[in-house]
Amino acid sequence: MNKVNVVGIGPGHKDYILPMAYKIIEESDVIIGGKRNLDIFESYNKDVYLYNSNLSDMCDFINTNKTRRKLTVIVSGDTGFYSLLDYLQVKIGKEYINVVPGISSYQYLFSKIGKSYKDYGLYSLHGREIKWIEKLKDKKGVFLLTDKKNSPDNIAKQLIEKGLYDIKMIVGENLSYDDEKITIDIPENIMIQQFSALSVVVIENNG
Ligand SMILES: C[S@@+](CC[C@H](N)C(=O)[O-])C[C@H]1O[C@@H](n2cnc3c(N)ncnc32)[C@H](O)[C@@H]1O
Repeated sequence: MNKVNVVGIGPGHKDYILPMAYKIIEESDVIIGGKRNLDIFESYNKDVYLYNSNLSDMCDFINTNKTRRKLTVIVSGDTGFYSLLDYLQVKIGKEYINVVPGISSYQYLFSKIGKSYKDYGLYSLHGREIKWIEKLKDKKGVFLLTDKKNSPDNIAKQLIEKGLYDIKMIVGENLSYDDEKITIDIPENIMIQQFSALSVVVIENNG
């Protein structure tokens, strides 16, 4: 039985993609993903299904084609950290899915700042709201995926509103790309800057 591959391709640069991901994509008939991820495999000349946030249409396409064509869904970072994996397992069926991990944006950023992440809380504010400031209490710090609304400057504003002025923020923009930028500063300075839509944040707990 053909399985639908769900493949994590890391933060974005092709050197951070696992050989297994390349192999599976090479063997696929159709690759499915967002533009940023599909562009990396342009030279493979595969049929593509460009996913533009209409998940339901994408699942219809997968369910219609899954038994007769080799399909691979490409996700950014790791499959196990806030990717489409959980949703696809429900909609396509767990037994039809083969998962290949990738390097997550948090693994990449922590490696760049030379720290281990085992004592940090790892969370997402990408299209979701959580009470992340409360999580700071029990951890060495938190790592946050961001989005347009919960951008690094907005996260800094929320820290200021809670009186957390003297706390270290690390913002990773466009990680692994040529224009990668890592900014380390206090919330007061982060809140007046603009950051890439592709950003993650680490907040260090001083206490
Ligand atoms: C849907 S989540 C996917 C997370 C992914 N599964 C992972 O393991 O990193 C998308 C978010 O990941 C973060 N992200 C992914 N790639 C990134 C990169 N190259 N640089 C900075 N942030 C990135 C951004 O916060 C973005 O909004």
